[in-house]
Amino acid sequence: MKKTLRWVAVLWVLSCLSWLAAFAQTSSHAADGESHPWWQHAVFYEIYPRSFADSNNDGVGDLKGIASKLDYLKDLGVDAIWISPCFPSPQVDFGYDVSDYENIDPMYGTLADFDFLASEAKKRDIHIILDFVVNHTSDQHKWFLDSKSSRISPYRDWYIWRDGKGPGQPPNNWVSTFGGSAWKFDSTTDQYYYHFFYPEQPDLNWRNPAVKGAMFDVTRWWYKRGVSGFRLDAVDTLFEDPNLQDNPINHPGKNAFGDPFEQNKYNTKLPEVHDILRGLRQVANEYDAVLIGETWTADVAELNQYYGKGNNELQLPMDFLFTMVNKLSPAEFRKQIAAVDAASGWPTFVISNHDIVRSYDRYGDGKHNDQIAKLMAALYLTLRGTPIIYYGEEIGMKTTPPTRQEDVKDPIGRKGWPKEKGRDGERTPMQWDSSENAGFSQGTPWLPVPPTYKTHNVADESKDPDSVLEFYRKVLNMRHTNEALLDGSYKAINESDANVLSYLRVYRGQAVVVSLNMSGMPQTADLDLKANGFKSARSLLATGKSEVRGEEVSLEPYGVFIGELTK
Ligand code: GLC
Repeated sequence: MKKTLRWVAVLWVLSCLSWLAAFAQTSSHAADGESHPWWQHAVFYEIYPRSFADSNNDGVGDLKGIASKLDYLKDLGVDAIWISPCFPSPQVDFGYDVSDYENIDPMYGTLADFDFLASEAKKRDIHIILDFVVNHTSDQHKWFLDSKSSRISPYRDWYIWRDGKGPGQPPNNWVSTFGGSAWKFDSTTDQYYYHFFYPEQPDLNWRNPAVKGAMFDVTRWWYKRGVSGFRLDAVDTLFEDPNLQDNPINHPGKNAFGDPFEQNKYNTKLPEVHDILRGLRQVANEYDAVLIGETWTADVAELNQYYGKGNNELQLPMDFLFTMVNKLSPAEFRKQIAAVDAASGWPTFVISNHDIVRSYDRYGDGKHNDQIAKLMAALYLTLRGTPIIYYGEEIGMKTTPPTRQEDVKDPIGRKGWPKEKGRDGERTPMQWDSSENAGFSQGTPWLPVPPTYKTHNVADESKDPDSVLEFYRKVLNMRHTNEALLDGSYKAINESDANVLSYLRVYRGQAVVVSLNMSGMPQTADLDLKANGFKSARSLLATGKSEVRGEEVSLEPYGVFIGELTK
């Protein structure tokens, strides 16, 4: 009897310990005892693996390269890395055409290299997020090879096959977002298959429960290998109208590929997407994982749909509306921030990624670019929400598009030249130092290293207290330790100011004020202290000479002031 009791006690202690361990993993604590899921306080960092760090000098980055830079990322203040697709792939769309979801492309290493990266990341408390290409596979995936082999293949219905309207006529007018008809004729079985992206990326048929089962299992497989979540690629495009109605034409004319301007009414954002997201979320919940979405929403009402009712879909749908504010306009940013702040879930901020021209070029005026890079960092890293940094943004990397069509690697750039130059410009190798090839590789980099590596690189910027990199480090360090920045509410102040964007982050009486001069002229901004119940402001981090006098702060052109308020 005594022995049994002892065993019960031991089991009870063990179960308490494992509960505590699980809790420690899921939540971090604010001073008031409130707990937050880990991804709300984490800073995410997107790595384009081809371009980050090349350990074997073949000119292409790899997993061992990423592992060798974990200390850099930790020191920067990164808590989670999202690695763009690193699975086996013919690389037509540089990994977004997956031929095996449960392996690593030999170009990036092996599963053993992945395990090594995962264990090294874990030692540093860095989560790994993989990129799950859910809408389509590669045309070289075994599922598709089987599907196209015959009309009675068990995999036939895993993709979308249809008869043409007549000889040489596709089933409807849908055009691929990467140019040309979205239907490709396959003479083996005399039918067309559907592809929203390249013809080498056939769309999966998510109406088939077998597809759903297989894809959900892929996520389980990686969760069990230590992955903390996924960025879900192109979720808008998962479903199509089963009746294949023609899409309306938005306006006359032709796009860069010579196609009509179609409204994707019948092949994007169908309501069925949400059933799948709810299902993927249920699996994610079993593993305390996070789902980030590539969600191109027209407004916040649409964004809310991706959070789901009662937040049961994506925890972090990316807010691309924010990236569409393409000028330094306080009024525009105020509007977007307020909209997202009022959304039904936790905001997710990005200012750049592997498909978007870098922020350095979108906002830079050619003269104050570094100062503007710091201003943008101060913005997206101090808002209420989770920021995702695109590699190289932290050193002020510039978009460097190819100048000749024959140098373009991204197929859309070759096809749409010169109107569409493709996405090579924002995917150039990471600039680590001023040695040859910016320390990225001793081989020939797959894309040329931009000449700016001489002035903008990790090694040199680490030695310069005024660099963009040091500014990122300081802001990230502050946001990890300041409760108002972690959990405080967002409140716009001085909203009529046309040049300076200012807001408060308030948490239980503690407050931080952020004032950003978005103009090329010195400005003085009202901090609305008294109206908000505060007496004075003390500088936490500022660029250039900024001074607080009473209610006002003076800011240099594109100057930043982040201050703590006292009562
Ligand atoms: C997403 C990716 C993009 C890719 C496309 C097709 O938009 O971000 O890089 O080309 O999906 O997978």
